[in-house]
Amino acid sequence: MSGKNYSKAVEDIKSTVNIVDVIGSAITLKRSGSGYMACCPFHKEKTPSFSVSESKGFYHCFGCGEHGDVIKFVEKYYNLDFQSAVEKLCSQYGITIEETIGPSDKKKEEYYEANKQAARYFFDRLSKSANKGYDYMSGRGLTAKTLQFFGIGYTGEDWTGLVDTLTKNGVRKDVLLELGLAAEKNGRLYDKFRGRVIFPIINVRGKVIGFGGRIIGDGEPKYLNSPESAVYQKKYNLYGLNRSKDAVIREGFAILVEGYMDCVSLYQAGVENVAASCGTALTPEQAKLLKRYAKNIVLCYDSDNAGINAALRGIDVLREAGLDVRVLNVDDGKDPDEYIKKHGKDAFLDLMNRKAIPGVEYKVNILKRSYDLKDHTQGIKFLKELASVIKALSPVEADIYIQKYSKEFGISEGALRREVEQSTGEKTSDVPVRRTAHPEEPEKTRQPSRTQLNVEHMLIRLIMLRPSFYERIGAYPEAFVSDRGKSVIAAVGNFYKDGELDTDALKNDLSDEDLIYLDRIEEKIQLGEDLEKSFMDCLSRLESARRAARIEEIDAIIDMSDTLPEESLDQEYINKLLMEKQQLIIRNKGEN
Ligand code: CTP
Ligand code: MN
Repeated sequence: MSGKNYSKAVEDIKSTVNIVDVIGSAITLKRSGSGYMACCPFHKEKTPSFSVSESKGFYHCFGCGEHGDVIKFVEKYYNLDFQSAVEKLCSQYGITIEETIGPSDKKKEEYYEANKQAARYFFDRLSKSANKGYDYMSGRGLTAKTLQFFGIGYTGEDWTGLVDTLTKNGVRKDVLLELGLAAEKNGRLYDKFRGRVIFPIINVRGKVIGFGGRIIGDGEPKYLNSPESAVYQKKYNLYGLNRSKDAVIREGFAILVEGYMDCVSLYQAGVENVAASCGTALTPEQAKLLKRYAKNIVLCYDSDNAGINAALRGIDVLREAGLDVRVLNVDDGKDPDEYIKKHGKDAFLDLMNRKAIPGVEYKVNILKRSYDLKDHTQGIKFLKELASVIKALSPVEADIYIQKYSKEFGISEGALRREVEQSTGEKTSDVPVRRTAHPEEPEKTRQPSRTQLNVEHMLIRLIMLRPSFYERIGAYPEAFVSDRGKSVIAAVGNFYKDGELDTDALKNDLSDEDLIYLDRIEEKIQLGEDLEKSFMDCLSRLESARRAARIEEIDAIIDMSDTLPEESLDQEYINKLLMEKQQLIIRNKGEN
């Protein structure tokens, strides 16, 4: 991919740049206790409550809760995005950001052309003669006109139909491979998409950038999607927007759904201003893309827990992009596709007009569900969470919601207002944990523990046995602690596509040392029948390690409080940290 290697630069910054230097050149730091202190640059104050730890490489404000490493400071203080902050530090400290070589436009054109031909091949197979794909789609209520409008296609069970056709048309082998249209075995290419209905993914400029293939009936994986490639980066794209953007402009809002089927089905029913995020978490880039066409979004995700969680995260992403968000949960059927098939366009629009609620209210409703408001202690916790939700709003919005919720929950406006003012705006349960290298003693020298290594080995064994675990471990990069482990998991990433791992190619690619490491694991790690359970055990150990890390962080923060004068220490805040620590300790005890 074209661009710069920021993660390497970040490592360099963390290992060479002194945080006291950087913060000290922006504000006046005073040596105190084991670190440095200052008046916080991020909120108004007369006595210092901002503390910097040189050895730990982070800052923490005991007044407003601002907290982070050197990059975070530069981002916040100079009002830069992450990349610009990295660039600024690199140019100041003479760190070079390496270029990664990217595809040229000419190469991209070749890829678009290959994808276009593939789309035509799939569409021809669906539309020219009888086939299972057409039957399946008409069985699900889609008309020939809709299938054509979205270019939906089909591919049979044969192994080389697409490869043969495209090769005959002059598409090169490495293009087929890179686009994920073909894979190679024993020197021969075969079709990756087989026995599926195919949704071409087309960007707003009309180029075919990838495909989503749904299995016909039941089976795994349900959807097979094109890998990221020179022309397809998931985070920049929304399915269906190429077809729906005019309607989005016309209606002044976009309905965002989870799935290909939801999108196509709503469109066919006459709700045309719709696009799909395709089951992945909504990104800021996608929000920006939407913003080109409308300022208002209705999130209409599936009504299951996954859908609710995706909506909660989506609300924040969309709001941060400056979009106005409402949320609709269909009350009959698991997703908008089912709902509109059952009840039709008018019922859907009517439901939306009655039931779509502002993002903020949706969040509060979900929050409310997890507390028993008849219980005083829980009630107080809920109000604190409520305050932190309101804290994130603009002053005008905050005012409106303070009025609304103080009435609704029977507390005085003043009390809620003060709670909001005091809130750090951070969810107590979700404070970011960012570990920074110790300047004198770089983190690299820390030896992984036996338990850490054991989890790493289990996970690698599990992924070799069931590759789909690879995706679920993405959120735990810290799981791989040894050099060999890191190297193997990076290689797995290169050969993993949509639930499948090309183990032959992987082993071909590994160094001798990595291979020995892998062999040892295969010998050593014995797993029971229930792989899912073993995997969940690993996750729970990782979670518990995260809690332990947070406990360490809290200890560090409390240590840092010795840099500050007595009067600027908010005892309540320290108590909150201590309470959080207690909770973490209890949970970790409970799980061991
Ligand atoms: N998805 C995926 N891979 C999977 C499952 C889902 O990429 N194994 C993505 C697809 O983009 C899918 C979306 O997540 O459209 C939503 O998933 P789901 O609700 O399971 O599928 P539907 O779109 O509802 O498809 P269908 O109605 O055919 O079951
Ligand atoms: Mn669905």
